[in-house]
Amino acid sequence: MDTLNVSLGARSYPICFGRSLRAEVRTAVESLRGAGQKLVVVTDRHVAACQAELLRDMFGDVPLLALEPGEATKSLESLGRVLDFMAEQRLDRGSVLAAVGGGVMGDLAGFAAAVYLRGVAFWQVPTTLLAMVDSSVGGKTGINLKAGKNLVGSFHQPSRVMIGTEVLETLPPREFAAGMAEVIKCGLLGDAALFADLERSPVTVRSPELASIIRRCCAAKARVVEADEFERAKDGGRALLNLGHTFGHAIEQVTAYRRYLHGEAVAIGLVAAARLSVDLGLIGSVDATRIRAVIASHGLPVALGEPLAWPDLLAAMSRDKKVRAGKLRFVVLDSIGRAATRDDVAPDLVSAAFASVGARVD
Ligand SMILES: NC(=O)c1ccc[n+]([C@@H]2O[C@H](COP(=O)([O-])OP(=O)(O)OC[C@H]3O[C@@H](n4cnc5c(N)ncnc54)[C@H](O)[C@@H]3O)[C@@H](O)[C@H]2O)c1
Repeated sequence: MDTLNVSLGARSYPICFGRSLRAEVRTAVESLRGAGQKLVVVTDRHVAACQAELLRDMFGDVPLLALEPGEATKSLESLGRVLDFMAEQRLDRGSVLAAVGGGVMGDLAGFAAAVYLRGVAFWQVPTTLLAMVDSSVGGKTGINLKAGKNLVGSFHQPSRVMIGTEVLETLPPREFAAGMAEVIKCGLLGDAALFADLERSPVTVRSPELASIIRRCCAAKARVVEADEFERAKDGGRALLNLGHTFGHAIEQVTAYRRYLHGEAVAIGLVAAARLSVDLGLIGSVDATRIRAVIASHGLPVALGEPLAWPDLLAAMSRDKKVRAGKLRFVVLDSIGRAATRDDVAPDLVSAAFASVGARVD
């Protein structure tokens, strides 16, 4: 087992990597039990069904709550269910919750752990590529409201992250590709060598280098989080992780979160961010073409399937959490492997970037 430490003082934690981490998780479970600490597992029904054996090997007879899969479960109602479950199991301040699943379970269960008894420890056991390279690391937890995504939440770091890649064997290819969008983002914003590797040969679930790529993404995210844990940096910092996301979130909102997976919307957003960076004179159009090609070679969309209207996208962007003092923030590329935040982007450049991915700008 290979370990990477996220250094955040008293909130530091290890990220453990391996193909199978069944034995390691089981040992950690037994050690909690030995110390008289309670543990519960929260997962989704889909993961519980297709990874039943893995869950049994890792957690044995630990009480388990399986919720409906999907983004709709990141709700106030599900939060109540997780909290009630924790109370029914009589968890105390020394207990631990294990979130097993994709970003939905990690965000929801992590938030329940953040608020139950004003905070108990939680483990992240990610089962999607997106959760492995992005959502399980960094401590952002939360749920959605009717008014928008991730509007309620908390920074609550996990006490350990356990990444065993064998679980990805049952992940649908479309979900795997969506996770690759975050991997490509990671290369674009801070690891030019990773981007070049992805350019040389597209990564699949069977690629021998998959584990090391996941590790590189976690290391990159850990560095950003260590420098700006609470996203307070005036420029750059944790906000850089939002490369492609201002565009992507607007696309997700206008399509009511139904047409695109998060990673697919981010992929289109990365193409738009590349175009914006070209129009700002930061990168050349050759780089933008390279970015498009890498995204397409990983089975991701590079443009909208059906055109969306610019006024709707603009309205969605202005409702985005990233609006500060009425100003929209964009993450742009200074080069492949280096990103920066900008809040002085003229609206016509934003509409041109959206038009370049197929939005209708009349
Ligand atoms: N906290 C953060 O920093 C952060 C960062 C990025 C995204 N997110 C959040 O993550 C969420 C998206 O996460 P996601 O893409 O992992 O979605 P998800 O959790 O909905 O999982 C996607 C689908 O894959 C299924 N699944 C999970 N693991 C599987 C496996 N091993 N085999 C078969 N099926 C499996 C799930 O049941 C679900 O149907 C969004 O809510 C987003 O806001 C959070």
